[in-house]
Amino acid sequence: MPKSRATKPDLSVDFAGIRLKNPVLTASGTFGYGEEFADFVDLNRLGGVIVKGISLKPIKGNPPPRIWETPSGMLNAIGLENPGVDVFLAGKLPYLRKYDTAVIVNMFGYSLDEYVAVAERLDSAQGISGIEVNISCPNVKAGGMAFGTDLKATFELLSAIRKATRLPLIAKLSPNVTDVTAFARAAQDAGCDGLSLINTLLGMAIDVRCRKPRLANCTGGLSGPAVRPVAVRMVWQTARAVPLPIIGMGGILTGEDALEFILAGASAIAVGTANFVNPRATLDVLDGMTAIMREQGVRTVRELIGKVSVG
Ligand SMILES: Cc1cc2nc3c(=O)[nH]c(=O)nc-3n(C[C@H](O)[C@H](O)[C@H](O)COP(=O)(O)O)c2cc1C
Repeated sequence: MPKSRATKPDLSVDFAGIRLKNPVLTASGTFGYGEEFADFVDLNRLGGVIVKGISLKPIKGNPPPRIWETPSGMLNAIGLENPGVDVFLAGKLPYLRKYDTAVIVNMFGYSLDEYVAVAERLDSAQGISGIEVNISCPNVKAGGMAFGTDLKATFELLSAIRKATRLPLIAKLSPNVTDVTAFARAAQDAGCDGLSLINTLLGMAIDVRCRKPRLANCTGGLSGPAVRPVAVRMVWQTARAVPLPIIGMGGILTGEDALEFILAGASAIAVGTANFVNPRATLDVLDGMTAIMREQGVRTVRELIGKVSVG
């Protein structure tokens, strides 16, 4: 066997100044604050944990039903339920900091001032590797996607957050736009260090017998394998348009799925809906990536980033 196949591949990456031992992260909102999955997954093995979205004040979220299973995916309208930034910093972050894994905090607000206030609080805390700004949640009435589908609002919001923190700043982009690359450029112009994509696609399901929407919120965000080709395409387009590193996500279940995103141009990937089906999905993805790299004699994951061959 050639030497490169026998040696363990190097999966470490530098993402916007954050050193990741491997590119496997958890997608926000699908892995709680890490502790919820610690019985299934050795968190030390993950490149990083991106926590459930945090806001200035606690939020109860939407009334049930909040989840509906679809072919190859799910619709959710959780409504960004969370305990608020102060409870997160005092009660959730200390647990995660015990592990040797990067902690990326996903956050959002209902106004520019709220976003900035959360960023300031996170900036003054210890043990946070980076901030992922959710400007793309389709399941809340104000904020979220309202910012992420308007170029001027995207630029103004991210510029204001940029001034509030020195932490690596990652903008989580919405797929619910015509040209995702325009939003990637706006994020770059605002001083962001990296991008995450994609958030969920706006969808709806109807119970034909009751003639009512399946979700109390009427519409929800579609995620899971059904969205993967859309996500891969958006990562590919974005990687060609801007030099910022990208966290790719959308329907990743296996190592092979993850490597699709890396070849499309992502420097790291996040596993989301798969965690609901298989709580060990993150580690299965990591092991699967390692196995394919070994099989192909690839020594470092860095040499695969953006290396899809397009004719
Ligand atoms: C139940 C649920 C909750 C989510 N909560 C958040 C959130 O709080 N913040 C955020 O930016 N994205 C959130 N997302 C979006 C995911 O992080 C991810 O971008 C999306 O689901 C696509 O990846 P997947 O197909 O692997 O799930 C959530 C997704 C799901 C399914």
